[in-house]
Amino acid sequence: MSSKLSPTEMPETQAVAAGPLAAYRQRVADGQLAADPEQQRAAARLDQLFEELRTYPAAHAARRGLRGLFGRASRTAARPRGVYLVGDVGRGKSMLMDLFFEVAPVRRKQRIHFHRFMQDAHRRLHAMKRADPSLTDPIPPLAQAISTDAILLCFDEFQVNDITDAMILGRLFDALFERGVVVVATSNTRPEDLFQGRPGSDAFRPFIATIRREMDTVLLDSPRDYRRGGLRGMATWHVPADARAELRLDAAFDQLAEDAVAGPETLTVMGRPFVVPLAAGGVARFDFETLCDRPLGAGDYLALASRYPALVIDGVPRLGPENFDVARRFIVLVDALYEQKVKLVASAADRPDRIFQRGEGAKAFERTASRLEEMQSQAYLDLPHLP
Ligand SMILES: Nc1ncnc2c1ncn2[C@@H]1O[C@H](COP(=O)(O)OP(=O)(O)O)[C@@H](O)[C@H]1O
Ligand SMILES: [Mg+2]
Repeated sequence: MSSKLSPTEMPETQAVAAGPLAAYRQRVADGQLAADPEQQRAAARLDQLFEELRTYPAAHAARRGLRGLFGRASRTAARPRGVYLVGDVGRGKSMLMDLFFEVAPVRRKQRIHFHRFMQDAHRRLHAMKRADPSLTDPIPPLAQAISTDAILLCFDEFQVNDITDAMILGRLFDALFERGVVVVATSNTRPEDLFQGRPGSDAFRPFIATIRREMDTVLLDSPRDYRRGGLRGMATWHVPADARAELRLDAAFDQLAEDAVAGPETLTVMGRPFVVPLAAGGVARFDFETLCDRPLGAGDYLALASRYPALVIDGVPRLGPENFDVARRFIVLVDALYEQKVKLVASAADRPDRIFQRGEGAKAFERTASRLEEMQSQAYLDLPHLP
């Protein structure tokens, strides 16, 4: 893996291009995209940034050395405010950002998944400290290097997962903004909710203030999830839960994740962290035991059903009378998924109606089994997620 972020440089001779709003309208006119007023509003805000970048000197200057133009001049030149696009999964955030990125009139620009960016940042910070043990603060030189490569940074799936990120983000972003960098980001989380309710969240507040000072938050609230139908034609309940089923679940997860990077995520449920072992974009994946054989409650399942339009569960076993508490949790989980129209892909020991036939709550499970049947239907898979 390269330790250097590689920016996209624009060819010198590129003609003056139309902005993202025109590009969006063109795609609607071509029938590539459905007309969506919410998206159009977001495209209009990105169009404003596009116009501002045309006259932003740092956007057009070529790469300079460490003490180049950007340290100073950009501080005085009016730096355009960035855009923080926030909304549920499948609303078209990444699509709009890509549209913008493609036409952005900036010589040194970079589009990167935020997770990748942070991994890279940590690696470079360590490398700098190793190379120069007398270096007490590697953040300014890192910011300098990043801003030398790119004056426009477009981050997909901005989120803050752990304290090690939270600890460097504030100072890194302050240093980037100071050097004239303009940031556009997509996220599922509003800036004010980033990393809240977790140990260390107080120390993170100044970063939230920085984001709100430097970027406009644009909510993308389209009623449509354009990603639905991602499971069209795919089987969703795989019996038995063998290696073949696991491969099918891997494929379903990849398809639902689209190009998002998979990793653990932490949700906050009533002030407590709830760790999702594997998630990517709009899909989360659990072993059955991790989900139903632990003291989790309705609040956790509702949080899961709100956050993810799709869930993959490995290894639903047959449950007997001695597992009545596990069965009860599974009932609560399926209710939450069903109410919010979450798409479920699972591997299981048997058909839904044979999962829990005897024991306390077996009667109630009949409705769960019938819901699990219905959740496999194309009609259900076509329903939009209700977060
Ligand atoms: N207006 C639209 N018409 C048709 N397809 C769309 C529209 N907006 C988005 N899409 C498609 O829906 C999918 C999800 O969009 P995406 O930008 O990935 O959403 P998000 O980043 O908000 O999760 C993508 O394949 C995208 O091209
Ligand atoms: Mg996206």
